[in-house]
Amino acid sequence: MFRHSQLETVQAWLAHPAHAAMPLHARIQRAIRQLILDGALGPGKPLPATRGLAQSLGVSRDTVEAAYAQLHAEGFIDRRVGSGSFVARMGEFTAGYRRPTREALRRNQAPNLSRRGNAMFHSGGVREMLQPRPFAHGVPETRAFPLQLWERLERQVLREAGTQALHHGDPQGLEALRHAIADYVNLQRGARATAERVLVLTSSQQAMTLCANMLLDPGERIFIEEPVYYGARKAFDAAGLECVPVDVDRQGIMAQKIIDDPTGAKAVFLTPSHQFPTGATLALDRRLALIDWASRHHAWIIEDDYDSEFHYAGKPTACVQGLDAHDRTIYIGTFTKSLFPGLRIGYVVLPPQLVKPMTVARTLLDGHTASIAQLTLARFMEGGHFGAHIRTMRGIYAERLEILAGLVRRHLSGLVEPQVPIGGLQMPCLLTGDIPEQEAVLAARRVGIEMLGLSSLHATGKAQAGFLMGFAAYTPEELEAAVLKLAGALKAVRRS
Ligand SMILES: Cc1ncc(COP(=O)(O)O)c(C=O)c1O
Repeated sequence: MFRHSQLETVQAWLAHPAHAAMPLHARIQRAIRQLILDGALGPGKPLPATRGLAQSLGVSRDTVEAAYAQLHAEGFIDRRVGSGSFVARMGEFTAGYRRPTREALRRNQAPNLSRRGNAMFHSGGVREMLQPRPFAHGVPETRAFPLQLWERLERQVLREAGTQALHHGDPQGLEALRHAIADYVNLQRGARATAERVLVLTSSQQAMTLCANMLLDPGERIFIEEPVYYGARKAFDAAGLECVPVDVDRQGIMAQKIIDDPTGAKAVFLTPSHQFPTGATLALDRRLALIDWASRHHAWIIEDDYDSEFHYAGKPTACVQGLDAHDRTIYIGTFTKSLFPGLRIGYVVLPPQLVKPMTVARTLLDGHTASIAQLTLARFMEGGHFGAHIRTMRGIYAERLEILAGLVRRHLSGLVEPQVPIGGLQMPCLLTGDIPEQEAVLAARRVGIEMLGLSSLHATGKAQAGFLMGFAAYTPEELEAAVLKLAGALKAVRRS
């Protein structure tokens, strides 16, 4: 028989609410296993007969039998016909096995990350808002998305593909989707793409991480815009790269500084169509100069074209990739803003020599992008719905931008000056009063309003105080209510 304390241990396992989802036999088996591992039941010790233990625990004999059978199968007990069940002699392992001391537990609970792991963790990552509220930036309006149409197309492709859609997909991406993407970027973005050069990924973020790890070694230099998109900076920092900030003016990154830099770098990261966060468009002469620099130095241009679908004054300038006859540019695109963030589909248009290496590398990250979403998106694009959706949203966003700029001028004058952008989903604003940026951001957050402070996007401390106001995801009424709330919060800070 078990000693009283041993029986109590098993009874406690049975009764513990945290084990409620476990079948009875599994609870008994786990309790006895714990007694053995803790040394409370030493090697060779007999276990109670199944009938006796069943009676003591108030369970059926079959239940105890199932627990013993599992303990036997796992090697914890020996069973001998006629003489019963005994704790197995498990050799050195059991002798060396100790219940962890408090100290050992404390030591083991420290994450013990690698240097790379620590850099990734302490970057804070790029957590997006799950329920976006004004003025969270970079968020599209999802309430206007043609969900029924999407659902119908998904059903259609599933019916056609059948169980074939459930297999692994091509790591480079579904061919039909790569064709649709190549057609789109060639037509709308002036790119030089073919389906063979497109690699479908889950996001721009994944593209940046891939580029950082595949094209540069830790410690190597990459020129980044100053200020810069935090997701890019974090991806490069996490890969151990040395980020070298290069100022941005009204014509985008100051390319001459790159050309004149005596140390050089292996790559440059750009948001040329609509610089994040200033909104500047990179001038043509600078684009050409950077392509020339990249080709002379055998460096890469990483072009993040994250929201150029939404340009409100004519057509956006064509992408750098389309101008680059030297094949030094990696073009990054995403459907996060043009469709919806939950889709998790982004892509790169690669120079031919990078297609194989990048495709192989992505198989180590996630294999491939989810097939059913790719099939549906390809159908959505082929059917002309992507173009139509963008045209509709462009109209909605242009109106919202105008409304927000008007509201800011009306209700926040003397405090905030809007820098109305030519495109995108957010508007940069400068703080013109005497409220420090951090105080403004915190005061807004206290009344439920999100704003991204501009200083956090600068590597150097010379940022002008201000913030980004996302407008695309919020109706005119929501924008107005939020601006009024923000005005109240900022005026209260000024009075205090
Ligand atoms: C400049 C820039 N690039 C990329 C992204 C993210 O795109 P994805 O969701 O594809 O990673 C964002 C999102 O805010 C962005 O602002």
